[in-house]
Amino acid sequence: MSRPPVPREVHVRAPGKINLALAVGRATRDGYHPLATVFQAVSLIEEVTATAAERFSLTVDGLHADRVPTDDSNLALRAARRLAEHVGIDDGVHLHVRKGVPVAGGMAGGSADAAAALLACDTLWRTGLAREELSELAATLGADVPFALLGHTAVGRGRGDLLTPALSRGEYHWTLALQDHGLSTPEVFRTFDDVVGGVGDPVPDRALLQALGSGDPDAVGAALSNDLQPAALELAPHLAETLAVAEDAGALGVVVSGSGPTVAALARSRQHAVAIAAAITAAGVADGVLTASGPVPGARVVVGERAGVPHVGDRG
Ligand code: C5P
Repeated sequence: MSRPPVPREVHVRAPGKINLALAVGRATRDGYHPLATVFQAVSLIEEVTATAAERFSLTVDGLHADRVPTDDSNLALRAARRLAEHVGIDDGVHLHVRKGVPVAGGMAGGSADAAAALLACDTLWRTGLAREELSELAATLGADVPFALLGHTAVGRGRGDLLTPALSRGEYHWTLALQDHGLSTPEVFRTFDDVVGGVGDPVPDRALLQALGSGDPDAVGAALSNDLQPAALELAPHLAETLAVAEDAGALGVVVSGSGPTVAALARSRQHAVAIAAAITAAGVADGVLTASGPVPGARVVVGERAGVPHVGDRG
């Protein structure tokens, strides 16, 4: 049987995430902190278009695009090079990234770009790696990259990269309060060491997992937690007001997402998420607001010419 023609261009969509719970232990000698986290992939999406090219290059547009490095430090470019090295391919690639996840917001937008770039180049170059192998490569690029490949809901252990899918019923509606000044993940972890300090071995939050399994948004809201929140608040004290305004607007739970500074408020419905967004805007306690829902799938090749078409092909 003849193989289909080699594609010249591949579109991939990958989601941002919210850590519904994030328990952090004491840093180990490699400087990383052991985590027990529950990830939910949400409908803020990064789109990566990979085009066959002799060299490696990258362009960016979309949300906060001016804050994204386009040199070799860009995680999507590093992902493409890592895959080429791994499989011994001489080709380059041009990557175009369309951002939908806030930059340096604690929602793993850069990790989503890396996951999308891996999957796009794997498809473009026909390297045909198994999902497990892509996930192992992903973990070498950053702790959150494997989850952007997997999506949906998962428990993350180790550095956050050892994933177990978790049962989750229902759809969850979020309001996300953005800040213009991002927080540096290493700095938030360093501040965590100074102001909190981790205990031994963190464990996943059972109450949260039960609430997700039974599809109980009130219980999910009550169980939202983040050990990095005091560190994020230390570095960005004004976030306390954002949390308070979202609570006053009736959010079922409010939490700093990952290393922050994005604040995620769980709403009762899509309309309620819009109402919380309006309250945050009116109070002037964020530089921007978005609404999103989850869980959504991980990185997927988009079938068809135009990225953003809802018809998607599941490679996994
Ligand atoms: O893995 P990633 O590059 O996303 O992590 C960025 C930084 O965050 C790391 O260099 C480390 O300082 C910190 N980190 C950590 N423990 C983790 C994940 C990240 O200390 N589990």
